[in-house]
Amino acid sequence: MTTEPSVAGIPQMGYGTWNRPGDEAHHGVIWALEAGCRHIDTAQGYDNEQDVARGIKDSGVPRNEIFITTKVKPDNFAPGAMMPSVKESLEKLNTDQVDLLLIHWPSPHNKYLLDSYISQLADVFDAGLAKRIGVSNFTKTLVDQSIALLGDRKIATNQVECHVYMQNRPIAGHCEKLGIPLTAYAPLARGAVVGDPVLDEIAKSHSATGEQIALAFLMAKGIIVIPSSGKKDRIISNFEARKIALTPAEVTRLEGLDKGMRLVNGASAPAWDI
Ligand SMILES: NC(=O)c1ccc[n+]([C@@H]2O[C@H](COP(=O)([O-])OP(=O)(O)OC[C@H]3O[C@@H](n4cnc5c(N)ncnc54)[C@H](OP(=O)(O)O)[C@@H]3O)[C@@H](O)[C@H]2O)c1
Repeated sequence: MTTEPSVAGIPQMGYGTWNRPGDEAHHGVIWALEAGCRHIDTAQGYDNEQDVARGIKDSGVPRNEIFITTKVKPDNFAPGAMMPSVKESLEKLNTDQVDLLLIHWPSPHNKYLLDSYISQLADVFDAGLAKRIGVSNFTKTLVDQSIALLGDRKIATNQVECHVYMQNRPIAGHCEKLGIPLTAYAPLARGAVVGDPVLDEIAKSHSATGEQIALAFLMAKGIIVIPSSGKKDRIISNFEARKIALTPAEVTRLEGLDKGMRLVNGASAPAWDI
């Protein structure tokens, strides 16, 4: 496995593949792996697990050097549905075990009860189909309830929206207290950080870019980041952010950029912690 920075065994920088269908995911994964990244984030709902697998195969990087995350979509929470859906994901990903399997979203409008799908997640883990299990878009209450339901099994991460403009402090603080690493999705605020004057000013003293500073900030706080790009030069540049060490004063200044700007929301989302 990689010698790159990691958080509880998870490489701290990954490559996100949401909204990258077919060849875009295939190329992106190859470029990310060529850049040295060894953590790929996909999901059943992205419909690109097979393209991620093609990218891994064509990169020539051995499977055992790559950390693969996938996520179970809420459609597959019906009783008895999760295990076969994960087997299908493994087939598409051309592996017999993922490194991390997440519940992608809490069941919209509580269509399925939490204990019914968390117990299926536990069964998938016990069957050895996933090395680690975790959750995504879970609130404080849902995390607490899941811990109780999972018994000895650990939640390896809670993957939530997190970037300089929405630092998601309530859930970040709760997970930190519980020792659950946070994974930041949309760590570049989907491109909104581009041109930010504070990021750009700090970037100058590190011979870096503002986007790299946005990623370095999250990493300085012990957060795992999974930025996405469809462009080779940006994939390389984003991955270089792991080398930037910010000063405590810079981190404090960047904390001040938080403006509660949530980008991923909608009628199916849980009632977020505030
Ligand atoms: N668990 C969940 O519910 C959930 C939800 C959302 C996302 N995710 C995961 O998190 C990953 C990342 O989130 P995201 O894709 O939503 O947002 P993101 O990584 O914050 O931003 C991606 C956007 O930023 C642009 N970008 C990337 N690098 C750049 C750079 N160096 N300079 C300027 N622009 C840059 C990209 O455009 P170009 O492609 O043109 O470079 C793209 O439009 C996803 O791919 C997915 O794996 C998970």
